[in-house]
Amino acid sequence: MSHVTSRMDRIGVRCNTDKASLGRSRLRPGQSVPQRSHGHDYLRKYEFFLARFATKPDYRMMELGAGPEWNLGASVRLWEEYFWRDDFRLHVVDLKPTADTLANERVTVTVGDLGDPGVLRRLATSAYDVILDDASHLWGHQLLAFEILFPSVREGGVYIIEDIETSFGEQRESWSQGAEIDTYTILSRLNGLVAGKGRDHPLVSGTSLDHHPALGFWQDIESVTIVSDACLIAKRGYYGPLG
Ligand SMILES: C[S@@+](CC[C@H](N)C(=O)[O-])C[C@H]1O[C@@H](n2cnc3c(N)ncnc32)[C@H](O)[C@@H]1O
Repeated sequence: MSHVTSRMDRIGVRCNTDKASLGRSRLRPGQSVPQRSHGHDYLRKYEFFLARFATKPDYRMMELGAGPEWNLGASVRLWEEYFWRDDFRLHVVDLKPTADTLANERVTVTVGDLGDPGVLRRLATSAYDVILDDASHLWGHQLLAFEILFPSVREGGVYIIEDIETSFGEQRESWSQGAEIDTYTILSRLNGLVAGKGRDHPLVSGTSLDHHPALGFWQDIESVTIVSDACLIAKRGYYGPLG
């Protein structure tokens, strides 16, 4: 069977972001040809949620995480091509000063530490249709960014948290960095609150998480969609690809 891809995935494969279904690994010493590798395969699922923004006037997107030095800006190039309108604006945030080289007429860059609540609060002063967190993948950072930035998502917009596999299995210890609550636990609880409109359920009540700030957003959320390794949270006013 042929490898079926979407338009977003085809561009993602060409730009070599690990969001795509296929990629090329970093060249190792002694290699002259990069190895083919499997990516996270997010894009075939994201397209359902994001295709509608390609034609939206004044579409604003922010991505946390510009990419490693050897592959800097792969997803920036994907978004620049997929969201083709002249008035599309992308804001990219990364710890590395070299991320600044990605800036152009449609792309602005902030260099800063996303573990710093002050940096996040400054980012939260602008409004976005889509915010995508692909930065450190630490539980504490994923949840802090969601708590501070979700209010900046416009009505009908989408907040995406990538690489939630760090909540599972062998990765738990190294990605918790001392945090007690993992990202997936909060997202699954949020999903239960949205599904049951805040009503009681054995899976979502009676825990010590009741007062976690992220859970207070449930009334502003249309859907919480978990895909392999990522979660898409659609804000009030989002009604699928046809709007
Ligand atoms: C997985 S890469 C992003 C990949 C890129 N979005 C793509 O799809 O091509 C993660 C990025 O997060 C950045 N990062 C890690 N910790 C960070 C932090 N505390 N604050 C800001 N950026 C951070 C890294 O420098 C790296 O560029």
